[in-house]
Amino acid sequence: MTVLLLGGTGEARALAARLAEAGVPVVSSLAGAASPAVLPAGQVRVGGFGGVAGMVDYLRTHRIARVVDATHPFAAQISTNAAAACRHQGTPLLRLSRPSWRTRPDASGWHWVARLADARAVAEGVGHRVFLSVGRQSAAVFTGWQGGYVLLRVVEPPQTPVPDGWEVLAARGPFDFAAERALLLSRRIDVLVTKDSGGDQTAAKLDAAAALGIPVVIVARPPDLPGVPIVDSVDAALRWVTGRH
Ligand SMILES: NC(=O)c1ccc[n+]([C@@H]2O[C@H](COP(=O)([O-])OP(=O)(O)OC[C@H]3O[C@@H](n4cnc5c(N)ncnc54)[C@H](OP(=O)(O)O)[C@@H]3O)[C@@H](O)[C@H]2O)c1
Repeated sequence: MTVLLLGGTGEARALAARLAEAGVPVVSSLAGAASPAVLPAGQVRVGGFGGVAGMVDYLRTHRIARVVDATHPFAAQISTNAAAACRHQGTPLLRLSRPSWRTRPDASGWHWVARLADARAVAEGVGHRVFLSVGRQSAAVFTGWQGGYVLLRVVEPPQTPVPDGWEVLAARGPFDFAAERALLLSRRIDVLVTKDSGGDQTAAKLDAAAALGIPVVIVARPPDLPGVPIVDSVDAALRWVTGRH
């Protein structure tokens, strides 16, 4: 019973390790755009499937028994494709998505926007020196930022030059509170823009912003896909795959 694990996240890597340990055959799938810090345990395949039809073909030819979609909460296309392909093939699908930051006590004080495209105008209304923590693919929306200074933190540097007045910081989490607070202070950041990626690894920036009274503009997650069960922990995903409780 081979499990296809759609990955590219820390949770996916952790689940791959637990499945391999439990003796469950697992193939982790990575998009291939970024170079992973550590490769997941078990087999790994890299690159797109070629849309829904390509994934259907993959599920069939590799006799995939179950699929766990542990991709990033904002990787909406691959999740939609997985739902359609699994529905077509009758393959059980589980979504593993780390806990949202919406339940944090300070979340009600943030500026929530539905789309990244809306974040810029809202952020321009509250600050001038922005800390942009939205991933390199999303940063282009902030070209022409009116405040002048942009601190862009990314895992890997952008492939194209950034506008004048931007500072790029390439760093991979986890990040701690003291370092995040020091970063916000040293760059005189007065607004933080991020996405509701959730989880613990990158939450310290929100704690630091709260401590310093810096406004937060945050992009809400894409909606959950109807009919796809969802869990927020590696343990729960492992139970779903193995049927052991
Ligand atoms: N979006 C983020 O903020 C973010 C942050 C951290 C990590 N990631 C990881 O980076 C990957 C790409 O993110 P994205 O936002 O560009 O995704 P996306 O917009 O949902 O996916 C775009 C296309 O990339 C391919 N793809 C994406 N994830 C794949 C995977 N795990 N295995 C094989 N093909 C995959 C698929 O191509 P085909 O249609 O050809 O199959 C998909 O249609 C994801 O796997 C995600 O877990 C994303």
